Amino acid sequence: MSPHLPLPLELVVRNGVVVTASDTIRCDIGVCNGRIVILGENLPRGEREIDAAGRFVTPGGVDTHCHLAQPMTPPIRLADDFESGTRSAACGGTTTIIPFAEQKRGGTLTHALEDYHARAEGRASIDYAFHLIVADPAQEALNEEIPRLVAQGYSSFKLYMTYPGLRLDDRQLLELLAVAKKHGAMAMVHAENSDSIARLTESLTAAGLTAPRFHAASRPMLVEREATHRAISLAELVDVPILIVHVSSSEAVEQIRYARARGLKVFAETCPQYLLLTAEDLGIDDDYSGAKCVCSPPPRDSSSQQAIWNGLAEGLFTVFSSDHSPFVFDGTSGKRPGGKEVAFPYIPNGIPGIETRLPLLFSKGVLEGRITISRFVELTATNPAKAYGLYPRKGTIAPGADADIVVWDERPIVLRNEMLHHACDYTPYEGMALSAWPAYTLLRGEVVWDGLEFIGRPGNGRFLRCGLPALLPQSRR
Ligand code: URP
Ligand code: ZN
Ligand code: ZN
Repeated sequence: MSPHLPLPLELVVRNGVVVTASDTIRCDIGVCNGRIVILGENLPRGEREIDAAGRFVTPGGVDTHCHLAQPMTPPIRLADDFESGTRSAACGGTTTIIPFAEQKRGGTLTHALEDYHARAEGRASIDYAFHLIVADPAQEALNEEIPRLVAQGYSSFKLYMTYPGLRLDDRQLLELLAVAKKHGAMAMVHAENSDSIARLTESLTAAGLTAPRFHAASRPMLVEREATHRAISLAELVDVPILIVHVSSSEAVEQIRYARARGLKVFAETCPQYLLLTAEDLGIDDDYSGAKCVCSPPPRDSSSQQAIWNGLAEGLFTVFSSDHSPFVFDGTSGKRPGGKEVAFPYIPNGIPGIETRLPLLFSKGVLEGRITISRFVELTATNPAKAYGLYPRKGTIAPGADADIVVWDERPIVLRNEMLHHACDYTPYEGMALSAWPAYTLLRGEVVWDGLEFIGRPGNGRFLRCGLPALLPQSRR
């Protein structure tokens, strides 16, 4: 035993099969002051003990793509604020999130951050950082504000190639990529071709094709493929790494493979909806319940699902996030704005998933043999922490890391929305058979979910300043 080991240990998680991105080891975890201080066999008794009983123990999830308390145009409102969203995350095994602070055109990023900090303050029950959404890249933002914010711990920004109010043109993208290169920030790109979507949307609605399922027809794979290729090309021109978010289709996967084969630093994120939903979930007839699965890019087909699974298994994808963007189905503030069934262009985009991200991938990926458990850890915790400068404090189980830990319970579960802790009135995965759920989630050594109840506390989540991205693993294909 190390002569410097603080005894007694505050907490010992005993008898677990501890998994990191590289190893699976049967050992105990010793915790002091909220940090892991030792991994070893037969550790001395701690002040508190958790018996993992031979079960898998993984790092707390790091969900680096979720939307909480983001202001929308009334009456539309995101269902989750920082209190309900972080509670839901904790109950599904996630202990760190990076939601977005969105700049308004004509407004500053600094003002957006002040606003989002106020929204999170006293409400978050797990740790959080912020990505910036740059909607107005004026000279002041490019030359002064972004460099200052990167140095202050906001080291990533999302760039949209579509959506009115957010969309950037190619010149603006290039300027922002150059800023990312100069200051070492991570540029995240939402890759869909805006003008193509606008034209398709106009012709579908003019023909009376307005049901939720036509959302998928208005954003076919090629609009994602073209924008993904363009984003990769612009990043190559500037010679800067990028991370393409929410990759949904086999054609976008091909573009990322192309980039990797050229040796470019193009990273990619995908989400549960692109593994487990298809365009048919938006409705095979004009049923409005398909609005529950309206998100962008839209879910595709079974061959895209397979291409995404292959990319996850082979190392093409770097990050697996939820893109939690919850809107209620009933009521007036969500999928039925003002209480009405609306044409697809007016259905708010996004689906809930912050709590189900880890159990879905653990069940369908690890336990059904599609990915290894170390890959699961890499995708859901280690790489996200590395990509946004939070590693090794977050994203691993190792001495010195925060004691953010999940103990897994393998048992048959039929997923029901009533089991979940978000403020949304549905899950797109209602009735799905799962085979595991966290038995415990620990945030800095404190139990926040005990398998039955949320026992975290709003306000206990800490704001994290992100460093610069760490070196990420990168397959060549
Ligand atoms: O439909 C989605 N994904 N909504 C959230 C916003 C975004 O683009 O990630
Ligand atoms: Zn997006
Ligand atoms: Zn998103």
